[in-house]
Amino acid sequence: MKITKICCIGAGYVGGPTMAVIAQKCPNIQVTVVDLNEQRIKDWNDPNTENIPIYEPGLAEIVAEARGRNLFFSTEVEKAIDEAQVIFISVNTPTKTYGKGKGMAADLKYIELCARQIAKVAKQNKIVVEKSTLPVRTAEAIKSILDNTGNGVQFQILSNPEFLAEGTAVTDLLNPDRILIGGDTTPEGEEAISALVDVYANWVSRDKILTTNVWSSELSKLTANAFLAQRISSINAMSELCEKTGADVNEVAKAIGMDSRIGPKFLKASVGFGGSCFQKDILNLVYIAKSYGLNEVADYWEQVIIMNDHQKRRFSNKIVQTLYNTVADKKITFLGWAFKKDTNDTRESAAIYVADDLINEQAKISVYDPKVSRNKMLSDLDYLETRTVEENSNALSIFDNAYEACKGAHAIAILTEWDEFTGYDWKKIYDLMHKPAFLFDGRNILNAKELESIGFIYNGIGS
Ligand code: NAD
Ligand code: UDX
Repeated sequence: MKITKICCIGAGYVGGPTMAVIAQKCPNIQVTVVDLNEQRIKDWNDPNTENIPIYEPGLAEIVAEARGRNLFFSTEVEKAIDEAQVIFISVNTPTKTYGKGKGMAADLKYIELCARQIAKVAKQNKIVVEKSTLPVRTAEAIKSILDNTGNGVQFQILSNPEFLAEGTAVTDLLNPDRILIGGDTTPEGEEAISALVDVYANWVSRDKILTTNVWSSELSKLTANAFLAQRISSINAMSELCEKTGADVNEVAKAIGMDSRIGPKFLKASVGFGGSCFQKDILNLVYIAKSYGLNEVADYWEQVIIMNDHQKRRFSNKIVQTLYNTVADKKITFLGWAFKKDTNDTRESAAIYVADDLINEQAKISVYDPKVSRNKMLSDLDYLETRTVEENSNALSIFDNAYEACKGAHAIAILTEWDEFTGYDWKKIYDLMHKPAFLFDGRNILNAKELESIGFIYNGIGS
């Protein structure tokens, strides 16, 4: 089967960039990305591609090239489903906030809605691809919905998890370490797998396209995220020990990373990992393990989250302690709010939790982030429901210039590793601050010696 028409349900951080790259690399395939969120689709269709809703380096250029040629963004979900041979489901799967599994399990209501909508609309056989990250064995539930339409339409369900990281989505999509496709081992399943392999083979070498059974593919995604997050919690655990012992976590990370069995990547100690995936996916893994009665497995992975929460809280505690045990009415400036550099995404960003802790201590927080809007920062805080919207808005001042944000501050905290922060005139910033001028580098991106020679009292992570 040759694929010529693809639909993707969900125009978010995954659906948008992934489909833009498929469209760019496969000019003969028509790709339509649909979403219920009208504003999001309107933004994707903004004539100025700099205004598309997701900031990723290189993405605007790809959208400019493919949009209107073979890449379309639309709210006409049913029409797009009807026309496509392959339907990617790329909707959000957040942690449940209600009912059984609240705070742990993945909320699959959006996935189920998609499956029901596909079942209702489809008149011809289709391949349904799970692009969202899902609990192992979700394909079974999707299949059960699709197989009970009574209209004779045949569906093949594939699992094709996405491994892109935000901030590097475009390069990750163009040069993936691997593409993973899981499907049924029946002849029909194998035919569907091979059709999807052919799509990716337009730009990814075939030896990097891995095919497995559906369950291995679903579980590999959760496993990959758990292993990655575990490395960060492991190095962050060591950072606390470094602070007590005079070791330097950057030196320790370098020393262990040169062991080829450990490798150098993902060993950067920080204020704690954020992002929409790690915490959600590990909580989901813990929930799945518990649901099979595997309590030791569940406890083992839960520790990764416990350590990460500790690391965030430790950072805010350190600020309070260092500022003579009170930050009440003191101005603390955050440089960065996004969960990592080169993205405007703030989901689960450590900055939100550190701000919340410090506002509890009656600090006044000023923030500068090159890509995050004022409304986003305020809604992130409001979402925690710690205090009223008005109280949050009084406690948080947002600036579009870093030097303005730092004026009159008692302390600066670096929450995101934006490259521009390293190029600032730190002497000028020092001169604008109250003395003693404290600096808490939650990303270890600044040069401690240089800052100390200016006069800052510098605190990094793990040294
Ligand atoms: P997102 O919230 O940015 O986007 C999801 C979109 O789906 C939203 O725009 C929403 O309006 C839309 N949607 C929900 N239900 C719908 C429906 N029934 N019909 C049409 N549209 C609907 O989410 P995301 O970050 O793109 O994540 C999507 C999935 O991909 C999640 O399962 C996530 O775990 C996984 N994932 C995310 C990343 C990442 O870096 N963000 C990486 C790999 C995998
Ligand atoms: C992650 C996975 O990397 C990706 O494969 C998956 O598809 C989605 O989840 P993402 O969350 O977008 O991607 O970014 P990532 O680069 O993994 O960073 C996650 C968090 O960990 C960020 O807050 C980052 O600052 C932090 N981090 C990362 C560290 O604190 N130290 C590190 O060494 C690496």
